[in-house]
Amino acid sequence: MTAYRVDEGLEIYESAMAAPYFQYLRRVLPRIFEEYGVAGGASLDLACGSGRLVGYLLEQGWDARGCDLSEQMIERAPEALGGRLVIADMCEELERAGSDLVTIVFNSIHYLDPERRRRLLEGLGRALRPGGFFISQHNPIEAMRRYWAGRTHRWSSDRGFAFWTGHAAGRDAVTVEKQYFERIPPPSGPAGEVFRQVTVSHRYHFFDADDLRAGLEAQGIDVVGAHDGRTLGAADRSSDSIWLVARRRG
Ligand SMILES: C[S@@+](CC[C@H](N)C(=O)[O-])C[C@H]1O[C@@H](n2cnc3c(N)ncnc32)[C@H](O)[C@@H]1O
Repeated sequence: MTAYRVDEGLEIYESAMAAPYFQYLRRVLPRIFEEYGVAGGASLDLACGSGRLVGYLLEQGWDARGCDLSEQMIERAPEALGGRLVIADMCEELERAGSDLVTIVFNSIHYLDPERRRRLLEGLGRALRPGGFFISQHNPIEAMRRYWAGRTHRWSSDRGFAFWTGHAAGRDAVTVEKQYFERIPPPSGPAGEVFRQVTVSHRYHFFDADDLRAGLEAQGIDVVGAHDGRTLGAADRSSDSIWLVARRRG
């Protein structure tokens, strides 16, 4: 299991990646909510990080909650979210939630191996109220090779740089090597910019869209839409990122 940590680049992740991603979320989610009539109630954001999405949903009137494995992520959350975020594994947290909306964004579903993904689906079957929504933003398996394997993604902020490189690891996984270059004060005297380097590796698991659909259906949850992450039009084989929208029957 993979909790993000300060000594493993968390500050750079937050400033260079999570903050811009949140701006993207704020543009996309209202469109999805409007299209599917996702409105109000109790929400649970899985792998919520420092709680940006939970804060946004709270502002929008949701009884919003979140969970993340990383204590250091949860500690970063604003005080206004006190008591709304818990340090917990997402599969376990679903055991006790009664939700009208469950979200998992920024590719976080890929942290689950097939067995834990099965637990996630079973948990959704228990946690989602009738008519409730499950919304995930992730990378389809078709995009795994062209988006991750042998590719390096670069992000930067005033805190430093992040280079994430994917290495194929079998038919449905990549190992993502994450190199962080954290800016530190230069020593006195003439010096260029100085960075501390940290490398961590995380395994990302991918899955066939039809398998996910079937797994959700077995729990009484129907996929009602899949949107391209860039255009928000219907997802197709060229989509590198998708928004999946599913709804509990009843
Ligand atoms: C890419 S970050 C996404 C964080 C947040 N959703 C965002 O948009 O900034 C992935 C998060 O998943 C958390 N995580 C990884 N495995 C988890 C698990 N099994 N249960 C809960 N959180 C997990 C990590 O600690 C990290 O905060």
